Amino acid sequence: MSRLIVRPSAPLSGEVTISGAKNSALKLMAACVLAEGRYVLRNVPAISDVEYMCALLEAMGMQTRRREDGALEIIRGSQVIPEAPYELVERMRASSAVLGPLLAAMGEARVAMPGGDDFGARPIDMHLQGLEALGAEFTLSHGMIHARAERLVGTEVVLDYPSVGATENLLMAAVLAEGRTTVRNAAREPEIADLGAFLNRMGGQILGAGSSVVTIDGVSDLRAVEHTVIPDRIEVATFLSVLGVAGGELTLQHVRPDHLDLLIEKLGAMGIRISPEPDGLWAMASGRPRPTNVATLPYPGLATDYLPLLVALQCFNTGTSYATENVFSGRFRYVGELARMGAQVRVDGHHLVIDGVERLSGAPVRALDIRAGAALVVAALGADGETIIADAHHLDRGYEGLTDRLSAIGVQIERLD
Ligand code: EPU
Repeated sequence: MSRLIVRPSAPLSGEVTISGAKNSALKLMAACVLAEGRYVLRNVPAISDVEYMCALLEAMGMQTRRREDGALEIIRGSQVIPEAPYELVERMRASSAVLGPLLAAMGEARVAMPGGDDFGARPIDMHLQGLEALGAEFTLSHGMIHARAERLVGTEVVLDYPSVGATENLLMAAVLAEGRTTVRNAAREPEIADLGAFLNRMGGQILGAGSSVVTIDGVSDLRAVEHTVIPDRIEVATFLSVLGVAGGELTLQHVRPDHLDLLIEKLGAMGIRISPEPDGLWAMASGRPRPTNVATLPYPGLATDYLPLLVALQCFNTGTSYATENVFSGRFRYVGELARMGAQVRVDGHHLVIDGVERLSGAPVRALDIRAGAALVVAALGADGETIIADAHHLDRGYEGLTDRLSAIGVQIERLD
């Protein structure tokens, strides 16, 4: 069982290079199903979710390889086995991103229906409704979605909610459909703009990816290309939250500050000084954070993935603050772990009331998912004694070399496998 041991650390200093965005890389990898050829993806983080996506692409008959220069090479031959089996989808929900590309490229897909998870029910009804509007037919048997479409025909789709995954599946299906598809109330996350740029580089005709109205003029052919993944904004939030608790001064390199407006504003309100630098950010923190209310919303709102990190930071605020989760129904399980460390956090429906304390107390706790695990690292930096975080493998799903990168800036952290 992998564990992290975190001890109180002196103020941090140094530089951190931010990795490529997990949630973009995984979808770009899925998009490689769309056309035959050799793809080169740069800035793909070396994390276990990327390994799972490689395993899925290989199970579908594609080849993947890390080159010496770190780029991920993906080779897609003339045929793809159009199936994402349960063992792989269960390991990683993002596997359902192959549904749209398989339908578009192969005319069929068999993808295991993802179940609920630590965030609640997490249905994919909007993905299916959108693809149905394009002409796909679905049946469900033995937990597998069987999808067929002799041809996909462009249409107008209005999403009930700007779902990231549904928007992505629709883009990847409509890019090869006949005629024009318009997706309204599309998700506007930077990772969607990155996917749109990738598909256009492949020969797609997509306008507005990253805005709430996306227009896709279907093309008949796409080609394999090279692309560099955008930086991971959730990693930025993680390192800034770590800094907010431990104090010190950091430079984060390879950052897109324009993807981080609201995060920078909220952390500024808490008292962290942040200023943009060419290709990066400089940040400094000292003392306890000021109480600051935060609420998650689809982009450009504050990302739901930031919330566990910001809550861990707000555990030390100098008064009372409120945090609201509006995106997922059940994403507060980490609060119980923070409570084991002495955090004063009360759950009230989808709100948290956080009474700040000066110090927490180190304890054995458990990482329940990627961001929940990272939140415990943040909290541990303001805790007396040792915090032992079990199930640290969850962090490997989303963070490349986290222990080494944190050690390099002065965090006392050790990994026991
Ligand atoms: N939803 C539906 N029906 C659908 C699709 C979504 O009801 O068909 C609901 C979800 O249950 C949720 C809300 O809509 O309540 C938002 O879900 P969305 O589809 O936007 O999220 P996702 O595509 O499943 C991605 C990221 C998550 C991130 C969310 C929100 C990936 C692989 N995952 O999930 O990232 O929290 O968008 O920004 O891109 C993570 O990185 O740790 C992570 C969980």
